[in-house]
Amino acid sequence: MNKTLHERVEQLRQGKFLGVPIDDFERGGREQLIFLLMHGLTPPSKVIDLGCGVLRAGYWLIHFLDPGCYFGIESSAERLAIGTTTILEPRLQETKQPRFDINPNFDTSVFNETFDYFLAYSIWTHAPKQQIVVMLDNFVRDSSERGVFLTTFLPAQWPGTDYHGNTWVGTSHESQTPGCIRHSFSWVKEECRRRDLSVRLVGKDTTHRQSWLKISRLGNSPQISDIVLRSPPASVLRRIITRIRLVARRFN
Ligand SMILES: C[S@@+](CC[C@H](N)C(=O)[O-])C[C@H]1O[C@@H](n2cnc3c(N)ncnc32)[C@H](O)[C@@H]1O
Repeated sequence: MNKTLHERVEQLRQGKFLGVPIDDFERGGREQLIFLLMHGLTPPSKVIDLGCGVLRAGYWLIHFLDPGCYFGIESSAERLAIGTTTILEPRLQETKQPRFDINPNFDTSVFNETFDYFLAYSIWTHAPKQQIVVMLDNFVRDSSERGVFLTTFLPAQWPGTDYHGNTWVGTSHESQTPGCIRHSFSWVKEECRRRDLSVRLVGKDTTHRQSWLKISRLGNSPQISDIVLRSPPASVLRRIITRIRLVARRFN
């Protein structure tokens, strides 16, 4: 009988650290899908998952999206291979045609596509500022006009905690040393402003309590979650009040 996702993930518990904890693996991946859905994701949306690792979110996204709509970039060939052979069900690749690239430069141009969603979960919590600006530049170059970049980070709340190093901190294709870093939100805002992008803090995920940022082009039309229900204009309110008064008079 085929193993469940839970059983396949449990198989990995004895091996080496794969960049994400085995506990809450399913929940953490599913929460990323839910977050994208809350920000307007639909089956034909094209999604690029930066640092897709062993496909914790990729698993759910590949199932949900139309064939050919999921793209993953990962620097560790070993992690990606575990994702495609252990996490995904056999034949899922055949039916959903996800595309992958192994590169350490977050180079989204390799697919020659325009993406509706850039996803970077637990990437800015390890990446130096030089890599973050590359991701922002690539978003400007390779996303659709109404494209959205959903990324998590850990805000540097105290002076001295803002990371200014120039190397990745944490495990990767070239390191087995765990670690996390923080970035100043003011710095992120300034880098977005330079590129005519808007950035908003849109809450924390419940699995690992990282802060979500939503980045999009300045002045683009609202996505589903941004639609604001405006109060009716004053003229409509006046008509409603007049009608209520007329009805009330009949009863007096
Ligand atoms: C903390 S894990 C998060 C994985 C995935 N986003 C998730 O939520 O499960 C970070 C991933 O980024 C990958 N990574 C590290 N350096 C990278 C680089 N330069 N380019 C692409 N991926 C990288 C790591 O190998 C690892 O799989």
